[in-house]
Amino acid sequence: MSENIEKKDILILGIETSCDETAAAVIKNGREILSNVIYSQIDLHTLYGGVVPEIASRKHIDKINQVIEEALKQANTELKDLDAIAVTYGPGLVGALLVGVAEAKAIAFGANLPLVGVHHIEGHICANFLASAELEPPFMCLVVSGGHTHLVNVKDYGEYEILGRTFDDAAGEAFDKVARAIGLGYPGGPKIDKVSCEGNPEAIHFPRAKVGDSGYDFSFSGLKSAVLNYLNSAEMKGEEVNRADVAASFQQAVVDVLVGNSMDAVEKYQAKKFAIAGGVASNKHLRAAFEEACKNRGVEFFLPLPILCTDNAAMIGCAGYYEFMKGVRSGYDLNAVPNLRLGER
Ligand code: KG4
Ligand code: ZN
Repeated sequence: MSENIEKKDILILGIETSCDETAAAVIKNGREILSNVIYSQIDLHTLYGGVVPEIASRKHIDKINQVIEEALKQANTELKDLDAIAVTYGPGLVGALLVGVAEAKAIAFGANLPLVGVHHIEGHICANFLASAELEPPFMCLVVSGGHTHLVNVKDYGEYEILGRTFDDAAGEAFDKVARAIGLGYPGGPKIDKVSCEGNPEAIHFPRAKVGDSGYDFSFSGLKSAVLNYLNSAEMKGEEVNRADVAASFQQAVVDVLVGNSMDAVEKYQAKKFAIAGGVASNKHLRAAFEEACKNRGVEFFLPLPILCTDNAAMIGCAGYYEFMKGVRSGYDLNAVPNLRLGER
């Protein structure tokens, strides 16, 4: 009898406000993007050389309703058609997260819809499900963003084992700090990516740090200091610095460490599939290096389009779908958790 009952589509509204993107998206059955609206505040923060938390929170408040309305409109959906609201509740900037969480709670209450709190990094990983319909766990995933560098074993939907993490700066943070030091401005990642194309990645040898016992951990603060020392010493000697060479050599050091540790883990765990995620995963050189490393080992490689690597709400809707299907529900006491750990509730 049940075969005759038509399966209903599950529609999730995803909301993301953990940093400097105000975003909302509607996702169908976990994998299909019906809309993906992102309001980036980057121009506002550029003036200050980085994200100013207070400004981020205020701008989220200004934009959140408009962004959600637009996401519903583009998806040709109304609140009554939805099955749940998924919202990032951590990690991130507390004031920024609170805007999304409060909004999601208000909509869930008003429209009598289930609420699902989502971990931001879980969202980044799930961007790969939106990008590749055929991808299923288990797989290994490197998450490289402005705040995180995690090598994760994705054992199943919502089941994660962290194999390695950064001991200090996140990869994206290192990109941003080095970009500032060589005068490229904020946000640094895309600028280093671009200027590196004109530089020689072997011009300067910067260190590739090995830290921790597992062999899969990362450290970028020594590399950042090495770049700063190089710049200072050139300045003291009155030597001209080739910014493109510095950018390309720095980027190569980051790529070598990310690919090196990841492939060690792939070999040790005999992973068959490898994915990358997070803002830094939109880096052209990183994408190409991983593609080649995976190809050489016969490992299937997955990567989201750049627009799904940087912060967005489609990935939150996708992660929310899998949590929702597992029966996860958040109460109206859901709060922002700035240091939320992956796998914690
Ligand atoms: O994932 P994301 O949008 O936000 C966080 O969750 O942190 O990542 C932002 C980070 C920034 O540090 C930015 O500089 C970096 O990702 N990024 C890049 C590139 N595009 C963004 N880093 C290197 N190359 C890029 N093309
Ligand atoms: Zn992010």
